[in-house]
Amino acid sequence: MSVSLIPAVYSLDDFEQRAAACIEPGYWAYLQGGAADEATLRRNREAFAEIRLQGRVLADLGGASTRCELLGQTLSMPLLLAPVAAQRLVHADGERAVAEAAAAMGVGMALSTSSSLSLEEVAGVARSPWFQLYIQPDRDFTLQLVRRAEAAGYRALVLTVDAPVNGVRNREQRAGFQLPEAVNLRGMRVRPAKAAGILDSPLFDGRLGSAPTWRDLDWLLGNTRLPVLLKGVSAAADAERAVQAGVAGLIVSNHGGRVLDSLPASIELLPRIADQVGGRVPLLLDGGIRRGTDMLKALALGAQAVLIGRPYVHALALGGAVGVVQLLNILRGEFEAAMALTGCATLADIDRGVLWQR
Ligand code: GLV
Repeated sequence: MSVSLIPAVYSLDDFEQRAAACIEPGYWAYLQGGAADEATLRRNREAFAEIRLQGRVLADLGGASTRCELLGQTLSMPLLLAPVAAQRLVHADGERAVAEAAAAMGVGMALSTSSSLSLEEVAGVARSPWFQLYIQPDRDFTLQLVRRAEAAGYRALVLTVDAPVNGVRNREQRAGFQLPEAVNLRGMRVRPAKAAGILDSPLFDGRLGSAPTWRDLDWLLGNTRLPVLLKGVSAAADAERAVQAGVAGLIVSNHGGRVLDSLPASIELLPRIADQVGGRVPLLLDGGIRRGTDMLKALALGAQAVLIGRPYVHALALGGAVGVVQLLNILRGEFEAAMALTGCATLADIDRGVLWQR
């Protein structure tokens, strides 16, 4: 089989720049955009750039490895592909190509509830995939999704809890893009909006009435044999409550800056949550990871693994599964270099000592 690599891409930002020309403008606005003024979207990157590293020399790197153990799975590096909706809008193979690339590279993946392929179609090519779940107004339908994910071989559920309402997405509005109309979303049952009077609150009298609560987390935990990770945690108090409820892990995230603008960067949120959780469950982080050095910084501040979202969609658009493999290779090379240059032979060596202290 001949595979053609995407020419002249050396960093994740290169993929982004190249992808802009081959993704339809409406989906581009959806993918790239954040909520409102996009302050959190920008902050996710800025905050990583502000952290500096402490180099180390002459460390013994014999037998060095990026291997990572996470919830009983072995990953080639501490990286997962985050749930992103409707990937067939950028490539005909969509989520299947992404699952193939993740399996080939030994990284994790979480399929979005808003996948443009059915969860069964993707499970067939994935290796130990996770399934991202929204608790939807129809709880029976939600439970059917859980049962299907269990039967198809998904190894964990990622319950996203930070988006009971969509962010105010001005970039998307200006582009006139609407996700459910753009693609047949397989896991979402969108309830038609009630006709509302001018004085009715569209959110408080509408969608939020059936938004999930802590009781629904207990309901889910009691109704599945899969480990459940909670995604979208930004407060230490919520992290504590989730651990006490019995989650298997937490994903520190501000949803890529897509829901509540003015949240801090996810890397800024991490240390407080890590202190609170104290190693009782694994912590993952997404938001702004674009370099191997970002991965190192996140691990130094308490994450066991990180997720990327937008970057792999850029690679998918440019080159399908091969493009995603190419991107993952670049990131792995950068992460290895970052570990080597800070004197870390294994993930266990990565701690706050790799961060430069003034
Ligand atoms: C969905 O989760 C989105 O951020 O669009």
